[in-house]
Amino acid sequence: MASATILPLDSVAYGGDYNPEQWDAETFERDLELMRAAGVNLVSLGIFSWASLEPTEGTYDLDWLAAIIDRLHAAGISVDLATGTASPPVWMARRYPQSLPVTREGVRLEFGSRQQYSPSSSVYRRASAALAGVLAQRFGDHPGVVMWHVNNEYGCHVSECFGEESRAAFRSWLQDRYQTIEALNEAWGTAFWSQRYADFAEVEPPATMPTLHNPSQLLDWRRFNNHQLLGCLLGEIESIRAHSDRPITTNFMGAFPPLDYVQWAQHLDIVSDDHYPDPARPSGAWDVAWQSDLMRGLGDGRPFLLMEQTTDAVQWRTRNSPKRPGQYELWSLQRVAHGADGILQFQWRQSRRGAETFHGGMVPHAGRAGRTWPAVVGLGETLGRLGPVVGARTEAQVAVLVDWQSNWALQAAIGPATEETDFAGAKAWHRTWWELGYAVDVVGTAADLTGYRVVVVPQIFIEDAELARRLTEFVAQGGQVIVTARSFVVDPTMAAVLGGYLGSLRELLGVGVTDVVAATGTPANDGENVAGYVEEPLTPVHRISTAVRTPGGCDVTGVDVVDEDLARAVRDLTGAAEDGLPVAGGRWAEVLAPAGDPAYDYDSGAAARSRETGVDVLARFTAEGGGADLTGLPAITRASHGSGSAYYVATDLDPVGRAGLATLVAQRGAVAPVLADLPEGVEAQRRGEHLFVLNHGDEQVVVPGVTGLDLTTGEHLDGELTLPARTARVVEPTPASPTSEPASAPLTSALPSR
Ligand code: GAL
Repeated sequence: MASATILPLDSVAYGGDYNPEQWDAETFERDLELMRAAGVNLVSLGIFSWASLEPTEGTYDLDWLAAIIDRLHAAGISVDLATGTASPPVWMARRYPQSLPVTREGVRLEFGSRQQYSPSSSVYRRASAALAGVLAQRFGDHPGVVMWHVNNEYGCHVSECFGEESRAAFRSWLQDRYQTIEALNEAWGTAFWSQRYADFAEVEPPATMPTLHNPSQLLDWRRFNNHQLLGCLLGEIESIRAHSDRPITTNFMGAFPPLDYVQWAQHLDIVSDDHYPDPARPSGAWDVAWQSDLMRGLGDGRPFLLMEQTTDAVQWRTRNSPKRPGQYELWSLQRVAHGADGILQFQWRQSRRGAETFHGGMVPHAGRAGRTWPAVVGLGETLGRLGPVVGARTEAQVAVLVDWQSNWALQAAIGPATEETDFAGAKAWHRTWWELGYAVDVVGTAADLTGYRVVVVPQIFIEDAELARRLTEFVAQGGQVIVTARSFVVDPTMAAVLGGYLGSLRELLGVGVTDVVAATGTPANDGENVAGYVEEPLTPVHRISTAVRTPGGCDVTGVDVVDEDLARAVRDLTGAAEDGLPVAGGRWAEVLAPAGDPAYDYDSGAAARSRETGVDVLARFTAEGGGADLTGLPAITRASHGSGSAYYVATDLDPVGRAGLATLVAQRGAVAPVLADLPEGVEAQRRGEHLFVLNHGDEQVVVPGVTGLDLTTGEHLDGELTLPARTARVVEPTPASPTSEPASAPLTSALPSR
């Protein structure tokens, strides 16, 4: 048996999902050697092993697992032990068919794939909690088991179930929430379309309907499903905690819409994430940044683990582009830059059989031949040198808020535009700041705002008076706030905010929203020959329609920047000439009215058109595009409160407009990018005292102003860093400050030392 040769105590965790039960004993022996060669120090074990751990109901066979854990431990490889509950064995499906999930259409999902359990199934809940307990009892203080991996990607395939048990659970959840059926009727607005209930027993989930659903019912259904899956997690945590105090995680999937991860993260010791950005998209690097900033935010700034990525290509897209040469290491270091203390992959060994045969692995079908293995070993070596980074925090002065409940509500709302993508506003604004080179936190709406200079409130659809109060306080203390269209439109039951949208934010922003205009860009009535809409007018055949203009049929709303500072910011960014700045809005525009104007009549949209809003107007709608009927009305406003400001953006501002506004706001808020004057394609992030410089581009670049010890190569840099295409460097300032310490305990402190 090999001696303990794992990375040092404070090294970055490296490894992946390990499924030795799919292989023979000889391969296992080989794996130990290869793991050592690759610098692997942590594997996630047993994720899909339920059928081997409990072959028949209530009969557990853990000896094979114990032998593997012992051998790994002896080899210096720590274990992130999975509870194995993501895919119940066939006995559960056959003996308890009611544990299988039922779709919205009433179809029961069969055994033979994975995740075939209803989140409300009492059989599943009991059996999964029991298995977690049995494992924790046996391995809870095993020196090789350093953390727990509960289930796997909760809700990934099945996040709702319409089976009998789920429907009953929904009713009792509603009863707890509303207490009386009258309260439910009020919250769901059942006076509309004659939907009134006399008793909770009559209530059903929003399954397939004749036509439009009740938005309040749908929102509660999403809350309920989140609650049920969270209940599964908590059941397993309770079982583990009875026997083990090792840290617990469950792997997230970025901003996965069905689950409110802000809530979930509160129950975890370590936030971990699975992420498969598409290498075929130029926005892949942004995606890595976005998801990492979110994971860091979910853990209140603590380091997180990348629990899954692929070394090369996935197999589940229509076309599965491999990562480009260098990108595996580049994106891995990017995650470390953004706060990851561990880089793990799905999976250690590429499967020989099954649905994921052609998904990348650290040991591919070709073994050490081909380009994957050298990249795997290379990354292991690099991560092995990053011990000094572990535990340090990535600090940001800009925060972008996310709110799952608001995202659900925006999706549940029917109209005025129903093509919203999930978290679109947060993603767009995060991307703007990231592209400009600023460090950004993505945090929940209840996060502590102290320490930020800029807070972006993008499409926070549900009114939140407490958030309004905290934002007001933040601005009073000199903070800059950007609120975007579609914020504070409904209350938590989906009832529309009356008296002008923005509700409790109106005072801070100085404006309220009286009307909305959705520019659709596609014909509302396909096939109709509507003049001026999409098709050419058929003069004179369509004698009347030919004269009808429909500006709503555009993708954009014209926006004219009228504020000199904003115009300068846009010009500096784009090199555009004095007039004709390339800024536009999106498919959405809003009519603003001054907040608190006693003459302002909520019922009269016209009032807003004739009056200034009483705040600085930075940009106005023009006659172009879908905004034609809004010509001259404010598109971007600013209410100043001392040195603090509250901006409102009444449209889906395009990337140029967002970048211009962000630049202006950064100047006023005295926020600087991580490094100034970076070449195209280069990202910089600071983690603690270490500077990460990442070249996402295809050209070699020279980055000025970088001095220190390059941990990745051991080279001393003296004011200049040459960075080949798709490479990254981690620079430690020299001389190293003897007093600098990690801001928080390293995740890997639980790993045994070499
Ligand atoms: C994840 C899952 C893994 C594997 C991977 C493939 O969703 O947790 O088990 O299926 O995707 O990309």
